[in-house]
Amino acid sequence: MDINSGQPPYYENHGYQPENFYVTRQPVDTNMYPQYPHPYYPPSVPHYVTRVPTHQTAPPVVQPKPPSAKVCTPKIKKILCIVLSVAILLTVAIIAAVLIWYFVISSCPGSSIECGSSGTCVSPSEWCDGVAHCPNSEDENRCVRLYGPNFILEVYSSVSKSWYPVCHDDWNDSYGKTACKDMGYNINTYYYSQRVASERGSTSFMKLNTSAGNIDLYKKLYKSASCLSGTVVALRCIKCGISSKNANLQGRIVGGSASALKEWPWQVSLHVQGSHVCGGSIITPEWIVTAAHCVEGQLSSPYYWSVYAGILTQSETGYSSAYKVTKIISHPSYNSDSKDYDVALMKLQTSLRLTDAVGPVCLPNPGLFFQPEQECWISGWGAEYQGGKSSEVLNAVMVPLIERSTCNSVNVYNGLVLPTMVCAGYLKGGKDSCQGDSGGPLVTENNSVWWLVGDTSWGTGCASRRRPGVYGNMTVFTDWIYRNMQANR
Ligand code: ARG
Repeated sequence: MDINSGQPPYYENHGYQPENFYVTRQPVDTNMYPQYPHPYYPPSVPHYVTRVPTHQTAPPVVQPKPPSAKVCTPKIKKILCIVLSVAILLTVAIIAAVLIWYFVISSCPGSSIECGSSGTCVSPSEWCDGVAHCPNSEDENRCVRLYGPNFILEVYSSVSKSWYPVCHDDWNDSYGKTACKDMGYNINTYYYSQRVASERGSTSFMKLNTSAGNIDLYKKLYKSASCLSGTVVALRCIKCGISSKNANLQGRIVGGSASALKEWPWQVSLHVQGSHVCGGSIITPEWIVTAAHCVEGQLSSPYYWSVYAGILTQSETGYSSAYKVTKIISHPSYNSDSKDYDVALMKLQTSLRLTDAVGPVCLPNPGLFFQPEQECWISGWGAEYQGGKSSEVLNAVMVPLIERSTCNSVNVYNGLVLPTMVCAGYLKGGKDSCQGDSGGPLVTENNSVWWLVGDTSWGTGCASRRRPGVYGNMTVFTDWIYRNMQANR
């Protein structure tokens, strides 16, 4: 690979970027890509012209009954009938007017932010100011974040418009649980709060005002230049990113090798009508991250899906219990042509029982750095060669990240790789994800924790020369993920 020129750039996880930070690009003509023929797999390359329907089980269409001919015949009833008709017409008109008002007029003016979908608007300075302005206090819920490889808890100050670490003085687990809950986690998964030496030179902290009584956590926090203990809070809301994987072991996917149990405990197999369709990653006992293109169209109904966790071979799905899905949330900015924002969340009907073989991967914190050619791993039950059927065993292979500029060069993907995507693989080909791996994890180990870097999204063919795999850029999605876990608890 020819990506080692000059200063090594870094993939910096900025996190918490506003949703529409990136300008959507016009799709480029892509008729050059062959269409993948398998009826089940979602398309593998952006911008297909035609699409094969993913399956045939359309819910039965209920034929409307013809209106009865015997209406309003007696004269006395005639007036009543007219009055009724007018009333119905009026009701319809009112409903239509309300709907138009709701969808057209209710979005917030200028820079103000809407509280969920309530129609209430608040100014940016009112977010995280310790006073709830939204009907469900959405403006005060997501004012915490975990920063960097050590999960440093930071709180947003609307006054100075920046994030500050929390001084460990007077901190306890009860505060930790509250902070985790505000990020969308269930307090049952709470792992620990730890003290970590604050970075030298830190001059601003958020400090607890313990005499403030029994009020919200954020109302108790105030900005301070001193922190007695000199330590800040490191917060783990869930025990995540633990793998038995021996880092020295070199690893199909294409060009990979069979995995061992507990190596990829976050990997799940997503089934439709008894067949493996896509992969996914466990992020909490009830939430799975997958690709939006896996749950497109009819498949956006949770009813079709079964989730299998803690398995290595597909034959195990015959006797292990499936988890059902209650809710599927696709990213609202997902574009099925360009594969922009190819991410979706699945909420399980019942929580997964976490074991050594079933456990969450860590979502990337803002402030995490990935090297330009950082070693990452992909896993899945996808095809072992282009056009093949999905694999019986869970395969995995190491793929290094590829810089976006390289991946977007004319002889690679020529500008199709958007900021919501990351490339990983080999320009010489040979090792790659393939059909059926979609939605599954692209992970990396850092600080002895495994992080979800991306979700398998697309590629031209599989493992071909100058056609590496393209993955959803999880860093860009984390804020959306937390917000949705928070709002759908
Ligand atoms: N879209 C494919 C799927 O639905 C994944 C394709 C990945 N392709 C690649 N060359 N890495 O399973």
